[in-house]
Amino acid sequence: MEGYYSSFDLSKALSEDLAGHTTQGAHGLNYHHGPPGDEGQTFFMPCKSIMGQGAMKGAVSQIKALGHKKALIVTDAVLVKVGAVKALTETLDQASISYAIYDGCEPNPTCGQVEAGLKKIKEENCDFVISFGGGSPHDCAKAIALTATNGGDIRQMEGVDKSTKPMMTMVAVNTTAGTGAEMTRFCIITDETRHVKMAIVDWRVTPTLAVNDPKTMIGMPKSLTAATGMDALTHAIEAYVSTASNPVTDACAIRAMKLISAFLPTAVEDGKNLKARDMMAYAEFLAGMAFNSAGLGYVHAMAHQLGGMYNMPHGVCNAILLGPVQKYNAKYVPELFIDIALALGFQCGEDKDLAVTKVLETIKLLKNRIGIPKNLKAFDQVKVADFPLLAENAMKDACGATNPHQPTKEEVIQLFQEAYDQEDEESIEIANLQQQLAAAAARCKDSAVLKKAMVQLLQG
Ligand SMILES: NC(=O)c1ccc[n+]([C@@H]2O[C@H](COP(=O)([O-])OP(=O)(O)OC[C@H]3O[C@@H](n4cnc5c(N)ncnc54)[C@H](O)[C@@H]3O)[C@@H](O)[C@H]2O)c1
Ligand SMILES: [Fe+2]
Repeated sequence: MEGYYSSFDLSKALSEDLAGHTTQGAHGLNYHHGPPGDEGQTFFMPCKSIMGQGAMKGAVSQIKALGHKKALIVTDAVLVKVGAVKALTETLDQASISYAIYDGCEPNPTCGQVEAGLKKIKEENCDFVISFGGGSPHDCAKAIALTATNGGDIRQMEGVDKSTKPMMTMVAVNTTAGTGAEMTRFCIITDETRHVKMAIVDWRVTPTLAVNDPKTMIGMPKSLTAATGMDALTHAIEAYVSTASNPVTDACAIRAMKLISAFLPTAVEDGKNLKARDMMAYAEFLAGMAFNSAGLGYVHAMAHQLGGMYNMPHGVCNAILLGPVQKYNAKYVPELFIDIALALGFQCGEDKDLAVTKVLETIKLLKNRIGIPKNLKAFDQVKVADFPLLAENAMKDACGATNPHQPTKEEVIQLFQEAYDQEDEESIEIANLQQQLAAAAARCKDSAVLKKAMVQLLQG
């Protein structure tokens, strides 16, 4: 311990940090950001959240205390079919809480699905909503609950804070980890006529009660666990480099990154591991806390276009775009990558170039380890000819505003192209190497040992 404080002046280091002279720790006050204006910084949170095993049961007890008459459960048909919704309805039955079910919500929910839910809420005379599922049911329920009280069409709410009245009471029971939608002020709805995902950013769509019970997440298949986990990592990284971050959102983002890098592979590989599920639920919640106030960036602005145009899974789009967009961002805020690298497990001292390399490598390794497709080329529906339109729409998406640097349309097209081509050369190189090894092994027919070793190498 001797000399710790004498050789390292903590208060001096901290004041240097806050003045933007160093990069370790919270960077929000004075670093690469413009001044926050003269109205302070707002921090958005749901007023109540329940986390951990038993949270769903706890939520139902608390719903009773809200004093409403009848709930509209907004969910999707898959969750009804696999029996997941039954766990909720049985608990509601035991507590004598009335409900009707709307299960017409699908991944990337549309305006049409919101309208159908709105019709049901009126027909069934419901006075509050319970969303059950991942980001899609939460967003669909938010849109239903908001238009139920404000009237009009959900399209009129696109943008920031367009509502004038509070939405209906909403309880969000989360089953993925995840979008953070169970606790954010974001609501993403696809306008099927324009093939665009609208970002409705409105503090009035923050759910009344957010519920994260790891037991409801156990049933997630590997691919869904991987995609939703990469969505959470994207939220944390985009919030950390955002121009609207502050020390509170930084703390949430960094902790989320640590948990995700430590627990996402286990959650994917051993889905029944309750600790990994629980830690991923905390991680996605923390990442939600970060981006709810700090905003996101161009990964989301671009991912929304792939989701709107081709109905691709949101987390997969983010995972593929994360590397190219952060490589672009690193040109403008390289110092921030020292902190991100540290959260992902790499001590880089003050070497920002090393930190950027480590972060980009980790994103790629993690994405490949958990089985996300390498690039956009892997999806037949994605057409290079669409990139100019996708780029144009990405530039209109509200999420891009807090990216550390605003790209030009040509740069956005280039980023789509990089995400389309990335790791292809490496795949070709590996395929060539495998072919050469296979040929060599075939030539060594007499040497069983050599052949066995080479086959093992190929399989590896
Ligand atoms: N509002 C926000 O803050 C926010 C943030 C990020 C993303 N989003 C939106 O969220 C949506 C994506 O949500 P998501 O990734 O959570 O998936 P999702 O809700 O679209 O669900 C995908 C599929 O997984 C199934 N599923 C969900 N939970 C399951 C479980 N526990 N076990 C088995 N299957 C399960 C569903 O039935 C569905 O078929 C996108 O529309 C995206 O734009 C919203
Ligand atoms: Fe997201």
